[in-house]
Amino acid sequence: MLFSRLNILLPLSLSTTSAKILSRQEAQQLNSTSFDYIILGGGTAGLVLANRLSSDPNTTVLVVEAGDFERNNPNVTATTALGLAKNTDVDWQYVSAPQIYGGNHSLIWSAGKGLGGSSLINGMTYIRPASSQIDLWPSLGLDLNWTELLTASKKSEHFQPPSADLTVLGAAYQSIAHGFTGPLDTCYSKHITRGTIHQIFNDTFKAVGIPPRHEFNDGDLRGYGVQAVTQDSKADVREDAARAYYYPVMSRPNLAVLVNTTATRIVWSQQNAPDGSVVASAAEIISPTGKTSNITAKREIILSAGAIRSPVILEYSGIGNPKILKTYSIPVKVPLPAVGENFQDQTVMAATGLHTLPRNYTGLPGFVAHVSLHDLFGAETAAFYNATAAKLRGYAKTIASQNGGASNATVQEHLLKTQLDLLYKSNTPTAEIVPVVLLNFAGAAFWPLQPFSRGSVHLNSTNATFSPAIDAKFFQFDVDGALAVASARWSRKLIFTEPFSGIMNASTISPSFDLVPANATDEVWLDWIKTSSGYAPNFHHLGTCAMLPRESGGVVDNDFKVYGTKNVRVVDLSVIPLQVAGHSTSLLYGVAEWAAEKILKS
Ligand SMILES: Cc1cc2nc3c(=O)[nH]c(=O)nc-3n(C[C@H](O)[C@H](O)[C@H](O)COP(=O)(O)OP(=O)(O)OC[C@H]3O[C@@H](n4cnc5c(N)ncnc54)[C@H](O)[C@@H]3O)c2cc1C
Ligand SMILES: *[C@@H]1O[C@H](CO)[C@@H](O)[C@H](O)[C@H]1NC(C)=O
Ligand SMILES: *[C@@H]1O[C@H](CO)[C@@H](O)[C@H](O)[C@H]1NC(C)=O
Ligand SMILES: *[C@@H]1O[C@H](CO)[C@@H](O)[C@H](O)[C@H]1NC(C)=O
Ligand SMILES: *[C@@H]1O[C@H](CO)[C@@H](O)[C@H](O)[C@H]1NC(C)=O
Ligand SMILES: *[C@@H]1O[C@H](CO)[C@@H](O)[C@H](O)[C@H]1NC(C)=O
Ligand SMILES: *[C@@H]1O[C@H](CO)[C@@H](O)[C@H](O)[C@H]1NC(C)=O
Ligand SMILES: *[C@@H]1O[C@H](CO)[C@@H](O)[C@H](O)[C@H]1NC(C)=O
Ligand SMILES: *[C@@H]1O[C@H](CO)[C@@H](O)[C@H](O)[C@H]1NC(C)=O
Ligand SMILES: *[C@@H]1O[C@H](CO)[C@@H](O)[C@H](O)[C@H]1NC(C)=O
Ligand SMILES: *[C@@H]1O[C@H](CO)[C@@H](O)[C@H](O)[C@H]1NC(C)=O
Ligand SMILES: *[C@@H]1O[C@H](CO)[C@@H](O)[C@H](O)[C@H]1NC(C)=O
Ligand SMILES: *[C@@H]1O[C@H](CO)[C@@H](O)[C@H](O)[C@H]1NC(C)=O
Repeated sequence: MLFSRLNILLPLSLSTTSAKILSRQEAQQLNSTSFDYIILGGGTAGLVLANRLSSDPNTTVLVVEAGDFERNNPNVTATTALGLAKNTDVDWQYVSAPQIYGGNHSLIWSAGKGLGGSSLINGMTYIRPASSQIDLWPSLGLDLNWTELLTASKKSEHFQPPSADLTVLGAAYQSIAHGFTGPLDTCYSKHITRGTIHQIFNDTFKAVGIPPRHEFNDGDLRGYGVQAVTQDSKADVREDAARAYYYPVMSRPNLAVLVNTTATRIVWSQQNAPDGSVVASAAEIISPTGKTSNITAKREIILSAGAIRSPVILEYSGIGNPKILKTYSIPVKVPLPAVGENFQDQTVMAATGLHTLPRNYTGLPGFVAHVSLHDLFGAETAAFYNATAAKLRGYAKTIASQNGGASNATVQEHLLKTQLDLLYKSNTPTAEIVPVVLLNFAGAAFWPLQPFSRGSVHLNSTNATFSPAIDAKFFQFDVDGALAVASARWSRKLIFTEPFSGIMNASTISPSFDLVPANATDEVWLDWIKTSSGYAPNFHHLGTCAMLPRESGGVVDNDFKVYGTKNVRVVDLSVIPLQVAGHSTSLLYGVAEWAAEKILKS
């Protein structure tokens, strides 16, 4: 019975780039099709679940993805450049609300659209968070600590050790920090920039007190070295989530994928569970021809639409802040004001100029450094900490007054204090500094890793296919400005330290000394950052369906289950409650593996 119904979808699941749009007849039949698990969003986390949950041939799984198959898109597969598919059709390119505390710019928020999600368009960097950050999670009420995360993350990884010529460039590794049998290929890129620049960067970081580091994936990040990437070094292609987790298992008859299909909302059963929780019965989807269908979920619906869309699908389904839902005439199923709140991303800035080396550099600038609060503030660290600590209560009050009752100021103050204390009391990275050299340009990109301001994402139309309203509230709190200024000052100092300074045409370096003098005040630096640095989001947005106790502003519990529901989970970056160092995919692949284990056991 089940399998004969599934056959309707087999032509879809079996084809890749040749998959067809549903015929009218097939689309109509979707109304009477059912699956055990329906995953909304075929992105980075969604495809981990699709693979793991369909490993039992008796379990049927459907993935609904708004974008297309991108297996053979050269912008996606390329390894010689970073994210060529960014700003193409494979990118949602959301536009944010004007950042009123940050120069009033409306920022373009990139997020992948296609089977593989943001892993199709990202920079491929593979760096896990600091162990100290994940080890805070149990104190916030989460079930996951660093040891467990590392195990789950290694389960996902298939590390391809570097060749000797890469090791010479500093691309060494520690076996203990890698998985070798998982689906996700990682490596050091063979396309990394070569030449004397390595020694110049290395010596400059040493000169400013940052030690060399040969491994960034063991939870300890302070230092300078070469970064790992999500690439298949043998085939020389980007390793996106579909390549790692979907294409190898696409012939499973119990796994179906609908592309070019938008998930709009969860359809609820008339009957609640005995404990009063609401029960999802189907997912409402819109086919490429604009037809709406309800597909029945026999067990669960899992939201994996990313931190910008998962909370919004919940809102369209009646789960969220009742005040917001009312504005759009959506009946409230579960009042949960934390949905869409707690949005956190980082701001990327750069200081660059022309170098004077007699060559134009090509290749991927694969170098990276992480610096601590003490590196940034030196002798002023304690004063900075004291001054900031004194302001946290005010910040917390502001957050609580803006979050629609998701959590109170006491809870928020505790979260902010936890975050600040960790930076002060350890070498946990406070900023990532990326020295770059490309063609005849060189310099440093940099971003503070731990924002204190909290933004939001919410629906902005009654039409569920419309883009949501994104507001990061960048620089709402002056601590975020102070951290950006400290990172910028530090980066300028780096570029003006020998031997780096010896290869730069000083008069071309931005910001110029006319704009930001050598002894510029914080105010002058901050004005440059907000008005003319061209700062951009890092696209590591998270936190909008936070895994936390409900009274702390949580949307999901430790089983990824949405509070107040029987059978709806969120598994994607939106569950991460606090911003972390490193880059999100290494963390997320591990978290998704952990989620799959929990779901399979449930
Ligand atoms: C430009 C860019 C550069 C980055 N660089 C790096 C990097 O170098 N290293 C790193 O580790 N991380 C990087 N990141 C971050 C990282 O890629 C993401 O955090 C991560 O991939 C997010 O995974 P996710 O599963 O939460 O969401 P996604 O992978 O974005 O998946 C969400 C999926 O849901 C689909 N979807 C959304 N709404 C709907 C709907 N209504 N119906 C159906 N489908 C829907 C989307 O199309 C998408 O496929 C970068 C991100 C971007 C955008
Ligand atoms: C998805 O839509 C795009 C744009 O309309 C189209 O080119 C592509 O063929 C569709 N994909 C499938 C698998 O039908
Ligand atoms: C599914 O059924 C609904 C209601 O019966 C109908 O309006 C809709 O057009 C059907 N969907 C498709 C794709 O035919
Ligand atoms: C699948 O279900 C059938 C019939 O219920 C059962 O015989 C079989 O052992 C199951 N297989 C797995 C892998 O669970
Ligand atoms: C690749 O990117 C370029 C722009 O950078 C764009 O013109 C082209 O259409 C893209 N190709 C595909 C297959 O999306
Ligand atoms: C991490 O969690 C696991 C499982 O709960 C536990 O056994 C282990 O002791 C924890 N490790 C640390 C360092 O807390
Ligand atoms: C930097 O120099 C140290 C020796 O001091 C070396 O061990 C390391 O591999 C170098 N790193 C890079 C990235 O070149
Ligand atoms: C989906 O189910 C809901 C609730 O039963 C119903 O209101 C809606 O019309 C259905 N949509 C389709 C396309 O059948
Ligand atoms: C490097 O490229 C620039 C143009 O971007 C060109 O003007 C310059 O001559 C090139 N330098 C060398 C050494 O090739
Ligand atoms: C910071 O505060 C602590 C505790 O109140 C105090 O002992 C210390 O002197 C202060 N340091 C600075 C630099 O203000
Ligand atoms: C919602 O917007 C889409 C375009 O994004 C449009 O095709 C569709 O007709 C709209 N639906 C309704 C109900 O207005
Ligand atoms: C919300 O939508 C309106 C148009 O309906 C648009 O003008 C506004 O910019 C959107 N807001 C955000 C924050 O995206
Ligand atoms: C804030 O919320 C926490 C968690 O629910 C609660 O323990 C505390 O009493 C609340 N504080 C105030 C001042 O309401």
